[in-house]
Amino acid sequence: MDKWWKKTVVYELYPQSFKDSNNDGVGDLKGIIEKLDYLQDLGVGAIWMTPIYTSPLVDNGYDIADYQNINEIYGSLADLKNLIKAAEAKQIKIIMDLVLNHTSDQHNWFLQAKTSKANPYRDYYIWRDQPDEKKSIFGGSAWTYDSTTKQYYFHQFAKEQPDLNWENPKLRSEISAMIKWWVDFGVKGFRLDVIDLIGKEVDKKIYSNGPNLHQFIKDLRAESWNSAEFLTVGECWGASIDDGIKYSNEKNDEFSMIFQFEQITELQSELGKYLYKEIDFIALKKVYKKWQQGLHGLGWNSLYLGNHDLPRMISKYGNDQEFRVASSKTLFTTLFLMEGTPFIYQGDEIGMTNTNWENITDYQDVEIKNTYQDLVLDEKKLTHEEFMQGLKANGRDHARTPMQWDGSENAGFSNAKPWIKVNENYQTINVENDLKNPSGIYNYLKTLINFRNKSEYADLIANSLYVPTLIDDSYLFAYARTNGQKTIKILANWSEKELDLSVLNLQGLEVLLNTHDSFADLKLKAWQTVVLLETRI
Ligand code: GLC
Repeated sequence: MDKWWKKTVVYELYPQSFKDSNNDGVGDLKGIIEKLDYLQDLGVGAIWMTPIYTSPLVDNGYDIADYQNINEIYGSLADLKNLIKAAEAKQIKIIMDLVLNHTSDQHNWFLQAKTSKANPYRDYYIWRDQPDEKKSIFGGSAWTYDSTTKQYYFHQFAKEQPDLNWENPKLRSEISAMIKWWVDFGVKGFRLDVIDLIGKEVDKKIYSNGPNLHQFIKDLRAESWNSAEFLTVGECWGASIDDGIKYSNEKNDEFSMIFQFEQITELQSELGKYLYKEIDFIALKKVYKKWQQGLHGLGWNSLYLGNHDLPRMISKYGNDQEFRVASSKTLFTTLFLMEGTPFIYQGDEIGMTNTNWENITDYQDVEIKNTYQDLVLDEKKLTHEEFMQGLKANGRDHARTPMQWDGSENAGFSNAKPWIKVNENYQTINVENDLKNPSGIYNYLKTLINFRNKSEYADLIANSLYVPTLIDDSYLFAYARTNGQKTIKILANWSEKELDLSVLNLQGLEVLLNTHDSFADLKLKAWQTVVLLETRI
């Protein structure tokens, strides 16, 4: 029997920007409840919410001050209970985000820890007399001096996000107990934030994939969510195929699946996302081939092109102007018929795009601010103009602007001024407009999700081999899924050129899905995708 997440689609929801029910400019849990019908109708089987715990929101909730409480701007524990129940009634499972590598500097453990070296919580964090040269992922040193106790503490992200010391067994058992509490509360899964960083050994300069990492994960699972039905997805930026198998092989008792990022990191410039680099389409296809084939039968992939840390998928990989609708459909089709669990990032189902903000002060993200300070002002590795080009292409805030529900003020997200600016294109691109259009993105995606999860091809899509073709072609993303008897062919035009496929011997194959009206001439129009059936007798 296949695990339920093999035939489901998960919706990643950014609560701060989804729907504001009490008009304070910030999205909230009641707002999500209001919109459950919209998500059910789309066909999603689970919602992953980014962190909603008590937090000073330095990193928008990835800095948790209390793991067992809800930030009051989002609502209360009772609201979350209601959300879980209301979602369950619509066959939607609620997945929480767990940030276990670090806490907020406002967490009681850290407040205690920094009062004295003898405090019982001191060893929940990582302290040294001298810093080394290790840099934080957000820029600047990974060590911050604490003048009360005259030592430095370690943080791989902002200084307000001190790293936890996983070598400490007391910390580990407190974390397990906390997770167990959430399982008993009724959540149906977890996304585990930067989980590959927890097994670090800073004195040996091992910061990710440490020697104890997999044991920590196994113990955590055994002591908290220990269930084969529980969806867990580990965020692992540095994972290799072998790591991916360890994390997600069913027999290994770790996670259900992982987020790996090779399709992002492989294609970036040597200075990372803020130095612009054009996408190498062929390299991208090769990374997909590697992961699709590498985990086949041995592990389980997640499939995503956008999330809250990435730019809008349509702006990065598609055409967010003339071919916005067609290229959204094409990106979703290309991705969702691979092997793995597809994730939709909030707003991508209606083709939301990057912002076009010229002014750095419009951006709110701590990563953007700290990296600007580091790369432009302190180290002068990038000019302001270079940074802005990278930011406009890849900054995290593009995906964090309020959901565009309709063309009214603040895009129907809130009656109050939103915490971050609304994308200026909200009067054209919004849910109301897209739903009105029978050939809009949402309606197409609904058909695609149904085809993927519920049609007679669902087993083939969930379990069969991925066979790419024409991998060196600069415009076509083409692959087949085949079990020997039945083959479906996915032919996706990732360009504005018209592609003539008459040489490919496709005559007479049944068209199962088509982003456009016709394919009779065996030509793919700009950003057109077709899915064809081939049956061997
Ligand atoms: C993950 C989150 C990101 C956050 C970081 C630190 O990568 O997705 O948003 O800033 O971890 O918690």
